[in-house]
Amino acid sequence: MKRIFSLFAGFAALGLLLASCSTEPYAVVPQPESLQMTGGCCKVPAIIKVWSESEDLQAVALTWGETMAKTFAPGTDSTSHHHLRIVSDVVLPAVSLAETKEEALVCVGIDSTLAASRYELTVGKKGIEVKAGAPEGVFWGLQSLSQILLQEKANADGVRKVKGVSIADEPRFAHRGALLDCGRFFFSVDEVKTFIDMLAVNKMNILHWHLTEDQGWRIEIKKYPKLTEVGSFRKETSYGWASKIEEENVYDGVPYGPYFYTQDEAREVVAYAAARFITVVPEIEMPGHCQGAIAAYPWLSCDGKKVDVCCRWGVMKEGVVCLGKESTFKFYEDVLDEICDIFPSEYIHIGGDEAPRAHWEKCPKCQATMKQQGFTREAELQSYLNSRIEDYLAAKGRKIIGWDEILEGGVTPSATIMSWRGTKGGIAAAKQGNKVIMTPGSHCYLDYYQTHDPMTTGEMGAQRKHYLPLQRCFEFDPFDQLNEEESKCIVGLQGNLWCEYMPTFDHVQHMAFPRLSALAEVAWSTTRTDYDNFLDRMKKAMVPTYEYHGFVYAPYVFDGTETYQFPKEEFIRPESFRFK
Ligand code: ACM
Ligand code: ZN
Repeated sequence: MKRIFSLFAGFAALGLLLASCSTEPYAVVPQPESLQMTGGCCKVPAIIKVWSESEDLQAVALTWGETMAKTFAPGTDSTSHHHLRIVSDVVLPAVSLAETKEEALVCVGIDSTLAASRYELTVGKKGIEVKAGAPEGVFWGLQSLSQILLQEKANADGVRKVKGVSIADEPRFAHRGALLDCGRFFFSVDEVKTFIDMLAVNKMNILHWHLTEDQGWRIEIKKYPKLTEVGSFRKETSYGWASKIEEENVYDGVPYGPYFYTQDEAREVVAYAAARFITVVPEIEMPGHCQGAIAAYPWLSCDGKKVDVCCRWGVMKEGVVCLGKESTFKFYEDVLDEICDIFPSEYIHIGGDEAPRAHWEKCPKCQATMKQQGFTREAELQSYLNSRIEDYLAAKGRKIIGWDEILEGGVTPSATIMSWRGTKGGIAAAKQGNKVIMTPGSHCYLDYYQTHDPMTTGEMGAQRKHYLPLQRCFEFDPFDQLNEEESKCIVGLQGNLWCEYMPTFDHVQHMAFPRLSALAEVAWSTTRTDYDNFLDRMKKAMVPTYEYHGFVYAPYVFDGTETYQFPKEEFIRPESFRFK
């Protein structure tokens, strides 16, 4: 870091040194480990030039610049002085001081004494420095810097006066994620990239990409072309609240699809995320939520009957594959070969939720496998699938994550459990030493209602328990009921955006924000205090960030239309409901 500190000597010559500035603290979301105002301030022009000490860091700065220049709030354009520009041609390679000192205002560097994702951000009179243990930490530090810059108004020349501040910070959890359900509705590659930007500004690092569903198979698999030729298309889509009574469901009569990601597109998403230190964890559902796959290849099911790609929402007993046939296992192995080729993530999510076992009870093949394996419960069949798939993936150096149902027939110690039916599955898993990602509906299902108004939902139910206001997300305690040793098994948490009732990406954003920022704070920060403090920082730092990037967000808590009262009545199911 010597080079960087000595670089600061050059800044004085730039006339950046200003008289005193206020020391009112900056707001940052998630709350950093420490933030100290240090006095003085620094002039930051609209075009920010970054000096990086290596090509890796130059790439980080370029990515930062790409994101900051990419989206423009309504009414502005790329030449607006109010927009920050960190553009590629002003990012300087690591050349000599003499060449850089007249250009750079921000310098980024590695300090190998720091943990990889730990960063230290200093705004001093002579310039701005972000150093971290690895490029990842620099990226998170730059996200804090963006929030600070956006808290200062630019003058007519686009120049901001930024107050002296020193931040030291690192994440609480390794898994800070969000699930995007592209099975129910499909979102374009550009929209998925925007979702990644949304994660990045919140210092979240996992995109859990839900790619296969009863209602659509969304990823190209070259060995099984019908998965997308047949499985990515459905005849129509139900609207209004889903009913278990088929006659009560209403359909729009509008064909949907074919919609899927080619392997090249998925790789593009992976690379875009990787440049932002976000890992894409693909989810390939098995043995349930497979009706899209079964529509394409009916031999996957117990009775082999032809079914359509599902057009309504719910848990489908027709969407469960047969576990008495070797061909089913071969199918998943082949699919996972291609998935592992596209997605370099250490973890592959194999689903496992909501797989009714009714067909297995009657299927001679499933029953024969149970007998041969000495199983007495159908749940063990699912465990048999999980452990075979886990072994298969382990040979490729990959590990599995599954929904908490995979605990039911017993799991190997190496499986990671994603607890969604409350935290009880996660608690049980942690008590037996499995790694756990917490995502209970009560605090993490971002399709749930945000206010009393049913129009603020993306959720299929209409019940009081599906009310999840911002404050409850903020108050989530992932260690609840766990002792210190067990708490070490909690590797993180995530918000889930199930999209049955979110046909548009605007709606997804509206459901995600601001609640995803509360979950990001829980996942990142060890120093968060009370909700009022969080709301204050949200207004000062995160809302301007949403607006700067043009992200849609729910305004209720900011414009006073949310009262935090629990709904008195069950919501009335509208005759037809489709959020536009
Ligand atoms: C789930 O919500 N079915 C995991
Ligand atoms: Zn079967």
